[in-house]
Amino acid sequence: MDTPAPLALLLQALEAGDLPAAKAAARELQSPRTGDTRLAAEVLHELRQPLLGVKAYTQLLAEEFGARGTLQMMLAQVERMEQIISDFTRLASERPAPQQPVSLATHVRAAARHFTLNPDSARISLEVMVSEEPTLQGNGRLLEQLTLNLLNNARDAISGPGRVKVVVAREDDAPVLYVADWGPGVPEVMRQHLFEPYVTGNKNGTGLGLAVCQRIAQEHGARLELVPPSALPEQPPPTTLFRVLFPSLENTTAPSTS
Ligand SMILES: Nc1ncnc2c1ncn2[C@@H]1O[C@H](COP(=O)(O)OP(=O)(O)OP(=O)(O)O)[C@@H](O)[C@H]1O
Ligand SMILES: [Mg+2]
Repeated sequence: MDTPAPLALLLQALEAGDLPAAKAAARELQSPRTGDTRLAAEVLHELRQPLLGVKAYTQLLAEEFGARGTLQMMLAQVERMEQIISDFTRLASERPAPQQPVSLATHVRAAARHFTLNPDSARISLEVMVSEEPTLQGNGRLLEQLTLNLLNNARDAISGPGRVKVVVAREDDAPVLYVADWGPGVPEVMRQHLFEPYVTGNKNGTGLGLAVCQRIAQEHGARLELVPPSALPEQPPPTTLFRVLFPSLENTTAPSTS
């Protein structure tokens, strides 16, 4: 592994005998945001490559012997590691991701496909309803991550078989995404701090998922909220309903991809 950037800067400054630069680098290393957080993000970033290797080999084995039992569990664990790495590096990054005109529904469908590939999702009946194909200015990968995090939360809250629904629509010219589930609901005590990092009610959770969702929503000028179940005309009404309301846009419509 290469020397992480904050450390490299400090070492360079020391080697060059540049005391002010060394002091600045040391200060940066000590600040909680650019020090610990950045170092952790860089280490996690480095881990991504070997992890992709492990994933590729596991997938090869699964193709050869069938994705059952231990192999299936290994793949799920690798997915989980990928999720933690992308959540953490997203939160630690101060740079907004590049944006372009994207079809919201396309990326929501991609997240839904990703979700169903996870063996733990097999017990969940997932419905994707696209009533509009809005195009918005955004980052497709992040929109996928946002949707997937909300879907994963719904699944993780439900202990056995259950139902989850995703809706892509347009409300008063604003693209909107709903993720509804008929699970146990968000505990009252969690509601106030739901979007803060490291707040979790799940023994295997890191509590980063919703913080990342919030950050992604903000990057898109969108509002992410836990809304009353009545906001979606479903019978019976869902127990938990998250809504991502994007800024209003011109009447552009992306071609349907499925
Ligand atoms: N759909 C939901 N139903 C019930 N509780 C939920 C739902 N979504 C989120 N929560 C609660 O909010 C908590 C925080 O969610 P968040 O996604 O931030 O973290 P996490 O899922 O615990 O961990 P991570 O996403 O990092 O794996 C969850 O642990 C859970 O208690
Ligand atoms: Mg989560």
